[in-house]
Amino acid sequence: MGPRTAAGPGERTMSWGLQNRLARMIKPSTGRSLMLAADHGYFMGPTHRLENPRTTLEPLLPYCDAVAVTRGILRSSLPPTLEVPVILRVSGGVSILSSDLSNEDITTSLEDALRVNASAVALSVFVGAPHEHESLVHLSRLIDEAERYDMPVLAITAVGKELEKRDARYLALACRLCAELGAHLVKTYYCEGFEKVVEGCPVPLVVAGGPKLETERDALELASQALAKGAIGIDMGRNIWQSDKPVAMIRALRAIIHGKATVEQALEVFRKAAGPGPSSAVAARGSRTTPSARAPV
Ligand code: 5RP
Repeated sequence: MGPRTAAGPGERTMSWGLQNRLARMIKPSTGRSLMLAADHGYFMGPTHRLENPRTTLEPLLPYCDAVAVTRGILRSSLPPTLEVPVILRVSGGVSILSSDLSNEDITTSLEDALRVNASAVALSVFVGAPHEHESLVHLSRLIDEAERYDMPVLAITAVGKELEKRDARYLALACRLCAELGAHLVKTYYCEGFEKVVEGCPVPLVVAGGPKLETERDALELASQALAKGAIGIDMGRNIWQSDKPVAMIRALRAIIHGKATVEQALEVFRKAAGPGPSSAVAARGSRTTPSARAPV
C-alpha cells in the first residue's frame, strides 16, 4: 500500500498557506516526513535524556523535517534562527502523576503559534477516556481557529496509560474521528493490522515510536513497516534521543524515510555513523519481526 500523501482530492481546495506549511514539513520530493518529537516534558517533566532539551536536540535538528515542542522549550532551548519547521504542542494541563491523563485543555493560543512561526499546532485526543468529549471538542475548536490562518492541525491519538489495550480497531476509530473533525494530519501508534488504520483515515498519518524499544533495529523495523503500510512518516522521540547514538539513529531513520533504505541498509547507516561501541552491537541483535505499539503517550 502506498503512502497516503498530503496531496489528494482535497489538495485542490486546500489554501495556499496550508499547502505551504504542510510542504515545509512533508518533503514534496518524497511525500514523507521525519518529525522529531520532543514535546514530552509538558506532562512527563524532565524525561530521561531530554533533561536538557537544548543539548539533546541541537545535534539532531539537521536531520529532521520538523521538530515537535512546547512554546516553553522553543523559547528557552531552540534558537530563533532555527530553520526547521516547528510543530507546536498546544494541549496540556495534566501531569504524569494524574490518574486521568485525558483531562487536557488548550494551553497555548493560536496567536502564540503564529507569533513563533509554527508550521503546525498539535493537540492530543483521548478517545474512550473520561475526557473524550472535551478533547474532541477542543480539536474541533482548534481546527476552526487554525483554519482562519491556514495553520495545519496535527491530532494525536493519545492513549494515556492504556496503550497495551489499543489495537488496530481502536486506533482506526480514533484516527478516523480526528480526520472527520478536520485534522490535517494524524499521529498515531503502529500496531498489528496497521493497514486498517491507514485505510480508514483519509488524511496523512505519522507514527510515534512509544517508549524506547530494546534495540535500534526494533525502532527501524517499526518505521519501515509503518511506511510500507501507508504512513507518510514518523513523529518519533524516545527511540531517537534515548538511543546511545542518537545522531546515528536519526540518520538511519532518514535513510528509510527519504532514501527508501531497507532495515538492513539503515542498520549499515547506523553502524557507520555510530562508529565502534556497544550500541552497534545492540542495534545488530535479532529482534521481533512485528514491532508493536506498546506505550502510553
Ligand atoms: C508526547 C507525544 C510524543 O510526541 C509522541 O509520543 C512521540 O514520541 P515517542 O516516539 O517518544 O512516543 O505526543 O506527548
